[in-house]
Amino acid sequence: MGLQVLIAFHSDYGSTQKMAQAIAAGISAAAPSASVSLKQAVDTTLDDLTGADVIVFGTPVHMGSMAWQMKQLIDRGSKLWMENALEGRVGGVFVSGSGFGGAGGGAELTMAALHANFLEHGMVVVGFPKTLSGYAHGGIHWGPYARTGNHEGMPEGISDAQLAACRSYGAHVIGIAERLLA
Ligand SMILES: Cc1cc2nc3c(=O)[nH]c(=O)nc-3n(C[C@H](O)[C@H](O)[C@H](O)COP(=O)(O)O)c2cc1C
Repeated sequence: MGLQVLIAFHSDYGSTQKMAQAIAAGISAAAPSASVSLKQAVDTTLDDLTGADVIVFGTPVHMGSMAWQMKQLIDRGSKLWMENALEGRVGGVFVSGSGFGGAGGGAELTMAALHANFLEHGMVVVGFPKTLSGYAHGGIHWGPYARTGNHEGMPEGISDAQLAACRSYGAHVIGIAERLLA
């Protein structure tokens, strides 16, 4: 049986959801035996978390940090921290933001906060090496990042190049997980 992958994300307007779907496609293309489940953070249960070998979290940046819906899932997961239930699982993260001002608008802070949660659980965090395809258009070393706003701060949506970076990251995460866990 292949690895169980959970992609838990929050998305209000669809950009982060498209990233989640592209990461899932990258995982499935690279590892057809993997079972991939996509869930909005508010619908994600603790059983979903404990049932996954690989957990990928994604969120839009909201006021320089993660959306509250993702933080709520993380805080619900503190029960699993008490039980050491996620130790040794593999984790990955992705983020979208309008990026007004050109400096990412809190994307890296948000990704680091998601990583911090995985590391608290004793999980193994997978970044996004710059040698992978798509990195130049949709990557930072923490994971895929999609800037969805234009230079005037208006929503522009998500580009094919950013989604390609997500697919590339999905393939990378499952490849690392297979080497560690399969
Ligand atoms: C309440 C709120 C706060 C936001 N704060 C930020 C921010 O601090 N930095 C940023 O880059 N984008 C910020 N944005 C823009 C969103 O992160 C961006 O539009 C994102 O791509 C939306 O993802 P979604 O389509 O999955 O909901 C904010 C959006 C909302 C609704």
